[in-house]
Amino acid sequence: MNKKTVRDVDLKGKRVLMRVDFNVPMQDGVVTDDKRIRAALPTIQYVLDQGASLLLMSHLGRPKGGPDPQFSLKAAAEALSKLLGKPVQMAPDTVGPEVEKMAAALKPGDVLMLENTRFHKGEEKNDPELARQMAKLGDIYVNDAFGSAHRAHASTEGVAHYLPAVSGFLMEQELEYLGRATQNPERPYVAILGGAKISDKILVVENLLAKCDKLIIGGGMANTFLAAQGCDMADSLVESGSIETARNILASAGDKLVLPVDAVIADRFDAEADSQVVDVDKIPAGWRMLDIGPKTLALFGAVLKTARLVVWNGPMGVFEFPRFAEGTFAIAKLLAESGATTVIGGGDSASAVKKAGVAKKMTHVSTGGGASLEFLEGKELPGVAALNDK
Ligand code: 3PG
Repeated sequence: MNKKTVRDVDLKGKRVLMRVDFNVPMQDGVVTDDKRIRAALPTIQYVLDQGASLLLMSHLGRPKGGPDPQFSLKAAAEALSKLLGKPVQMAPDTVGPEVEKMAAALKPGDVLMLENTRFHKGEEKNDPELARQMAKLGDIYVNDAFGSAHRAHASTEGVAHYLPAVSGFLMEQELEYLGRATQNPERPYVAILGGAKISDKILVVENLLAKCDKLIIGGGMANTFLAAQGCDMADSLVESGSIETARNILASAGDKLVLPVDAVIADRFDAEADSQVVDVDKIPAGWRMLDIGPKTLALFGAVLKTARLVVWNGPMGVFEFPRFAEGTFAIAKLLAESGATTVIGGGDSASAVKKAGVAKKMTHVSTGGGASLEFLEGKELPGVAALNDK
């Protein structure tokens, strides 16, 4: 990575303003999945061990129209405090005179969690005035919020222009592993894409096709490719506006692209729907494809066996319904046993490897959903671009 990291700056006695992505799921004021908080711990611990004090800032959810207690970061501060085994103070706001006072009183080793950055309208507008107020709170800015690095907001991008700005270890690790998907990959390199819509992933398909040796496509997005090949997909989700694009991609990809040959189909979109397995060109009227079938799994498995690097983004079917989850979980297990370097994009694929019980067997599971997708599209992430070059 050509960006400075926390290792490149002297932190002793400094006040470190660190952007983390504590946009975590919560229920009744309690954090229900602390993966993102745990993922930030190495940088948090390092900063404190260097003799700095730490101010943490993050967004949570998508609050509209100012402060709203249901989007408070208080529960995240409590979860962090338990993980760190030390108190984490909670600020009443993100910026402002009261927060400045609390910041000034911090001693080395102290941790202060600032309130949700999205309580301020200027956050998402990347308002320079808000960014300047944030910058006033610290001596050095650290960005460890990979999950938010695709947002050019005041706390992820703007503030980096007013302080020395470096990356944390999580950001560095994410860029390192996801970077393997786009630069000098180990070969054979197999990419797997899934998820509902092809229209969300056309740029990813094009970018990965240029880099990988094989591109496996499953999930709802495979339907549009199959329709472009002339299969009657019956009631399956097909994006008619993308069929032409799919046809062009198929023509240029040749045998690089690997598509399902059979499917688990359902008579309606429902967890309790009747199901059967058919070849993809034999889907009866009124039925829809909700998972890949056993022949497809064998085909995908044979391709995966050859791989030294696998990058996976998007489920193979509607894995929220147990009856249609088998294809997705089977792919997760194949990856776990593959011996290849395995890099899992965030969001649904991260939750699939977790549900399949194999998350720990993956080389890297990204903490970023939208961010990992934009990275795989080949875009430069604004939160990374704003950091100081080495
Ligand atoms: C995420 O969960 O993907 C990030 O925290 C970004 O959240 P956002 O999509 O609300 O910007």
